[in-house]
Amino acid sequence: MKYYLTTPIYYVNAAPHLGHTYTTIVADVIRRFKRMQGYEAILTTGTDEHGSKIENAAKAAGKSPQEFTDIISAEFREQWETLGLAIDRFMRTTDPRHRQTVFMLFDRCLKSGYIYKGAYTGPYCVSCELYASEVQVGEPCPDCGRPTEAVSEENYFFKLSAFQDRLLELYERQPDFIQPEVRRNEVISFVKQGLSDLSVTRTSLKWGLPVPTDRKHVVYVWFDALSTYMSAVEGEGLWPADLHLIGKEITRFHAIYWPAFLMAAELPLPKRIVAHGWLLFEQEKMSKSRGNMVRPEPCRRVVGADGLRYFLLREISFGQDGSFSFDALVGRYNADLANGLGNLTSRTLKMVQDYCGGAIPDGGDGSLSPELGALAARTVPEFIQAFENFQFSRGLEGVWALLGAVDKFIVERAPWQLAKSAEESAQAALRDTLYVAADVLRLAAVLLAPVLPVAAERIWRQLGMREPLDEQRLEGLAPRQLAPGQKIGEMRRVFPRLDMASAVQRMRTLEAAELARQAALLGKGAPPPEAAPEGGKIPIEDFAKVDMRVGQVLAAERVKGTKALVQMKVELAESEPRTIVAGIAEAYTPEQLIGRKVVIVANLQPRKLRGIESNGMVVAASAEGGLPVLVGFLEDVPVGARLT
Ligand code: ME8
Ligand code: MG
Repeated sequence: MKYYLTTPIYYVNAAPHLGHTYTTIVADVIRRFKRMQGYEAILTTGTDEHGSKIENAAKAAGKSPQEFTDIISAEFREQWETLGLAIDRFMRTTDPRHRQTVFMLFDRCLKSGYIYKGAYTGPYCVSCELYASEVQVGEPCPDCGRPTEAVSEENYFFKLSAFQDRLLELYERQPDFIQPEVRRNEVISFVKQGLSDLSVTRTSLKWGLPVPTDRKHVVYVWFDALSTYMSAVEGEGLWPADLHLIGKEITRFHAIYWPAFLMAAELPLPKRIVAHGWLLFEQEKMSKSRGNMVRPEPCRRVVGADGLRYFLLREISFGQDGSFSFDALVGRYNADLANGLGNLTSRTLKMVQDYCGGAIPDGGDGSLSPELGALAARTVPEFIQAFENFQFSRGLEGVWALLGAVDKFIVERAPWQLAKSAEESAQAALRDTLYVAADVLRLAAVLLAPVLPVAAERIWRQLGMREPLDEQRLEGLAPRQLAPGQKIGEMRRVFPRLDMASAVQRMRTLEAAELARQAALLGKGAPPPEAAPEGGKIPIEDFAKVDMRVGQVLAAERVKGTKALVQMKVELAESEPRTIVAGIAEAYTPEQLIGRKVVIVANLQPRKLRGIESNGMVVAASAEGGLPVLVGFLEDVPVGARLT
């Protein structure tokens, strides 16, 4: 069975921010979840590229609209790829295939008499691309508050007024057509007040799709944009969509205009529209117009795509507004992922290694831990139910309650004590404890796969599972299906703990670099050369600015009160050794570091970490979600040697 879902197609007047990322990640989670329920789920997204806003943004960047939209559209597409989102089709409104669908729809509405020619005179909001007939010219736009302008033009109109009854009937007949309930009620009361006809073309606009039969008219952006939901899957038999996932501010377009257009064209309606709340940053809606955006890249680079996904789904109660902050992101990551799931995984597997020879023990019939068994059994259907109802946060809470119960259970049972006893009852309790813990990790890996695809796969492999995780089905998933005797896989830490201060600092630095890169991409201003080089490449002189040298660690100690930071004295063949603070304490003990040769960036500006001034940076490889690995040499190199 197919399940076709969409995100909005995003305006290309600026690069993607966390708000767009939020919707697209939620859509990707739903797609993966539906696939694990056995659906052939298809997810489409894309970019909305026509209209005066974008024309203006292109002009400001000194580019043609096409050049400009090519660049920004690629930014969106690449961003979703970098985040590992499973996008099946990416549709642009400038795609020729899309044009065909818009014309088909327009033509059908024209033929059925629901599109007619008329004229509009009155106030218009350039920013929202809306005729603002409720206010006087020059007064603030009711939607965005910016001053409206006067326009008068010949337009084609869509007879929206004719659809009031049919729309109300639709909302009645299909109570879940618009979710959540608050949005449904807003829409119903809006429609009950009566609907005016809607202008669906402009003559004042150049950057858009011309009406084939009347080329001085350009199709209005929303008619154009909404059609992508069909054009993206044209000829695939996927229409109607099962779900349009949107932000709440565009509910009216999706729940009123779109079904009316489709009714007029005698085409099937989407099954459901789900509107979520806003991501707030510093108490305000994160948006291009407010300029308070956070980009996804700095977050991904520091907490990984899984860390960001988890935060957005767990922290925000879906449907409501929710706040984003770097501190909250790292806080959640450390508390739930590093200390919670990550810790339980490494702890359990290490005990299976140490006490059971690296094979899953035989846990018997479960009678030694009935309560935990019952909790695990309950958690699965509750999680599925929550996700089906878009209550992601609640579903995740349930899994974490289970993980917490297992943690507690391990502490109570104290397997390290049991292991010392040769008595059969102690040995049975030991086997039961570790079996239950490993089995819950298996359940968690399957349930969490839609939210944490990378980490869940890692946990799955470490448990020694062979079948592909993404082929697992939620149906029939239950406790105690883990095979005793199964050899566990190679242990790899998931979600290493982050030092809060340095992680937040790193995201801020990356955010500034990302901004500079994007500004340069659009040719705005003179970008700092090191941050935004031509075509992503730097001249050799830039590399030469970085003074990298071989050093030797003379002394090392943990920075008190941190897990990740280590303070070192490093000899660089200078008058005095340097003090350097590095976030490598989880990968290396001080003893492992002392005497070791390392590579140091020697000409970095000094930086204070936990009150200690660090004069240089240790170079290490950092795989996403993995521990840092220090750079070293196979041959011996003298201290002070430069890397060129
Ligand atoms: O409206 N919090 O495009 P757009 C949560 N092109 N979600 C947010 C958000 C925030 N702060 N900011 C943006 C358009 N979004 C039209 C849509 S569809 C046929 C045409 C997400 O670039 C959310 O999904 O303004 C919102 O609806 C969408 O981005 C708006 O993106
Ligand atoms: Mg918007």
